[in-house]
Amino acid sequence: MKTTARRDLLLWAENELTALGLEGFVKSGAIERVRSGLGGSHTVVTYPPLDSLEEVDPQQLLERIGPVRGLSLYLHVAFCEFLCPFCHYETEFTKLGAEEPPRMRAYMDALEKELAYWKSVIDGSGLGSIYIGGGTPTAVSEERLLRLLSTAISTPDTNEGRRAVCMETSPLTTVAEDGEKKLRALVSAGVNRLSIGVQSFNSQLLRRTRGYTQIEAVRALEIISGVLDNVNVDMIQDLPFQTSEHILDDLEQIERFRPAQVTWYILRIRPEASWYGRFRRESLELPNTLESARRTLLIREGMARLGYIKQPGGRFVREEKFHDRFKQIRAGLETTLLGLGASAYSHGWGYIFRNAYTRGQDVNGMREYIKLINDRGHAIVAARALNDVEVAAGKLVTGIRGGVHLPPSTAQTAAYLAGAARTMDELCGLGLVAFDLARGYGLTTLGSLFEEEVCALFYSPAVKTKLTEDHAAAPGGLPYARGAVSVTQ
Ligand SMILES: C[S@@+](CC[C@H](N)C(=O)[O-])C[C@H]1O[C@@H](n2cnc3c(N)ncnc32)[C@H](O)[C@@H]1O
Ligand code: SF4
Repeated sequence: MKTTARRDLLLWAENELTALGLEGFVKSGAIERVRSGLGGSHTVVTYPPLDSLEEVDPQQLLERIGPVRGLSLYLHVAFCEFLCPFCHYETEFTKLGAEEPPRMRAYMDALEKELAYWKSVIDGSGLGSIYIGGGTPTAVSEERLLRLLSTAISTPDTNEGRRAVCMETSPLTTVAEDGEKKLRALVSAGVNRLSIGVQSFNSQLLRRTRGYTQIEAVRALEIISGVLDNVNVDMIQDLPFQTSEHILDDLEQIERFRPAQVTWYILRIRPEASWYGRFRRESLELPNTLESARRTLLIREGMARLGYIKQPGGRFVREEKFHDRFKQIRAGLETTLLGLGASAYSHGWGYIFRNAYTRGQDVNGMREYIKLINDRGHAIVAARALNDVEVAAGKLVTGIRGGVHLPPSTAQTAAYLAGAARTMDELCGLGLVAFDLARGYGLTTLGSLFEEEVCALFYSPAVKTKLTEDHAAAPGGLPYARGAVSVTQ
């Protein structure tokens, strides 16, 4: 990207900000970037949000679970070679290259046991897609990963030979001595999509947050691009000390490698992240709402100028065929997902449910997971029933990004949908949502800068109450009750 192209892009973002009238809008208090709590949950990974699940007697759930059409599988590998201070995922540190440590052996043995526990459901259903994520799966030995993969891959492919099999990796594991060999072995064994978290190409930012520099990030992309074309690269905007110039540098590297997909996340700081304390004390230097929105615009236009096609949730694809099917599987309640491993979630069979996960200081998710698997074969600890209101709310929360019609109202959903219709009208008035007959209600350009914040307005009353109560009860809990968008509800 030449200096003139960079200057042009910065100018474009400035003009667009003015054209959208964002400054006045933000100053009026109508909208705010929320980094934690309601509307600030990283991305709306799923609806209902995982924070809204409640303790459950798993027996009533287990009775319902059996083979289904179109099952997808998620396997959570909870180890990383570096613990990033912004990250909230269930994971533990492991040293690369060492013999399999006892904790990893216990966890991976438990994961294999859990896979065996669900064998009849998986074999009876077949699998439409397989996703091995974490954590950083490639922090685990090649032998272990191949064993896990072969069990999953040997199930019937219900996607007519087009089954997506994705594995997450990281720059440090990719540039490790055995990194390239491991990736090649995984691809030979059936992995057809790799996802790598780069986050930034700026050495200073990386050193602080990821334990490597631009040299390793670039080398990792050279290696991974040589192994497979279908690669997703994760990036994060709004890291402390990140500037627009850093983002322009990142776009330059993306131009150089042209990965099949790029996902640009907006930084969120959840209570599980080690930065959360500093975030609460407001000692993390984060861009304000206006600056954050400007960067989102910069990234979108920059990616468009590189020829990428924009998709909801910060995703960009080089060609339509690289459309991220996993996002839909993990978020949409229409699909059935079985998630195995500590903290993994599943949806289907009338519920969303979740395995043992870390709850504050009291419960260590990994330890509880291993124990539960060894005691009873499964590790389900929390759930929420998907009643008619939750299904309707799920349609709106996940659908509003691309366009959605209000579903027909029933006796159960009438009150919720009447409220949702009023909220839609207010959002239309604010210019965040627009309605047309073909698409239904959908985010405008302005609204799409605050995707997560707007989506959270459509959580069901039960979910909002649960989130609000929990966080009001937490010591000094964040104001989950406060919405990011000022509408009357
Ligand atoms: C499981 S990690 C990806 C694989 C690998 N562990 C890595 O980091 O390279 C999933 C992605 O979530 C994103 N992420 C993690 N914590 C985040 C946060 N607090 N805010 C925004 N994005 C976050 C990062 O982009 C990360 O790459
Ligand atoms: S971002 Fe990736 S590497 Fe960093 S702690 Fe989270 S899962 Fe591990």
